[in-house]
Amino acid sequence: MFLVIFLCMCSWSLEGVFGSESVMEGDSVLLSVNITETQRRDGIMWTYGPHTIPLAKLNAENNKTYNGPDGRFRDRLKLSESGSLIITDVRIKHSGLYYIYTTSQETPLKIFNITVYTHLPVPIISRVSSQISSSSSSSSDCCVLCSVMNVTRVSLSWYNGSRVHSSISVSDLNIRLSLPLEVEYQDTNTYRCVVNNPITNHTQHLHVTQLCHTCSEFSCCCGFTEAVIRLVVSALVGVATVAFLVYDVRSGAVLDPV
Ligand SMILES: *[C@@H]1O[C@H](CO)[C@@H](O)[C@H](O)[C@H]1NC(C)=O
Ligand SMILES: *[C@@H]1O[C@H](CO)[C@@H](O)[C@H](O)[C@H]1NC(C)=O
Ligand SMILES: *[C@@H]1O[C@H](CO)[C@@H](O)[C@H](O)[C@H]1NC(C)=O
Ligand SMILES: *[C@@H]1O[C@H](CO)[C@@H](O)[C@H](O)[C@H]1NC(C)=O
Ligand SMILES: *[C@@H]1O[C@H](CO)[C@@H](O)[C@H](O)[C@H]1NC(C)=O
Ligand SMILES: *[C@@H]1O[C@H](CO)[C@@H](O)[C@H](O)[C@H]1NC(C)=O
Repeated sequence: MFLVIFLCMCSWSLEGVFGSESVMEGDSVLLSVNITETQRRDGIMWTYGPHTIPLAKLNAENNKTYNGPDGRFRDRLKLSESGSLIITDVRIKHSGLYYIYTTSQETPLKIFNITVYTHLPVPIISRVSSQISSSSSSSSDCCVLCSVMNVTRVSLSWYNGSRVHSSISVSDLNIRLSLPLEVEYQDTNTYRCVVNNPITNHTQHLHVTQLCHTCSEFSCCCGFTEAVIRLVVSALVGVATVAFLVYDVRSGAVLDPV
């Protein structure tokens, strides 16, 4: 019995009951149907989730749209004459399955799978100190990091020429998503970092010569030992200054007549 039901459900999908759509945040989505005069007279209902959250009702006498229990759909829903539902200014939270039912049937007339994607930022490539990034890296390696901020449902990839060198994908909101890459200082291959979702993508090229050969005083070219020496020297200078000040204050106090 269950198997029969399951097979029936499969055959609906095969008959195109199921519509899938990828949209960008801010877009309007049209869940398109053409209801018959009979279906309209009997009444139709749109829900978010199967038989769960009512979104809109339409019948011979009137029509009505709802806000959803959390107000998620407030001022966003419109019904058309054909029974289609229009959702304006969609956000990530409007992703999900939308069902349209006729009053006379338990099974949905059509199901829509809507997936909302955010606008993508351009990735940022920055240099990281190789001592911090990995103990295995040699002094001839330059370690860079490709990052994007505040992204949901994206992949971040490094390309070496036309090949994908490494990739990471996330489905939830990530405040900061990063992917490292180690290249040689003399590397002449072309590298680019790409952020993409099924709708769009952005690319940032790595300029090995610019990023790996610039040498600001405290960042790259100074090796680990040099950094330690700098640290020790500045610490010693600090201690000496404090000692001198303390001595100065004390001798002042002794000499001042109170
Ligand atoms: C509904 O009908 C209109 C015109 O009759 C057609 O352009 C549209 O594609 C139809 N939509 C669906 C979902 O069948
Ligand atoms: C919904 O009802 C209003 C009046 O209450 C009417 O103006 C509008 O055309 C109706 N919309 C549909 C899709 O039937
Ligand atoms: C809806 O579409 C998304 C994106 O294509 C997919 O990941 C998800 O599995 C689909 N949901 C269903 C129930 O098919
Ligand atoms: C990321 O989102 C947070 C919180 O919404 C915001 O404060 C921050 O400015 C955003 N950063 C970027 C780079 O968009
Ligand atoms: C990029 O590809 C070239 C040639 O295919 C290879 O020699 C080089 O090691 C690759 N770079 C990295 C970082 O793997
Ligand atoms: C980026 O988008 C362009 C079209 O805008 C497409 O040709 C290209 O294949 C996409 N690249 C990736 C890595 O998704």
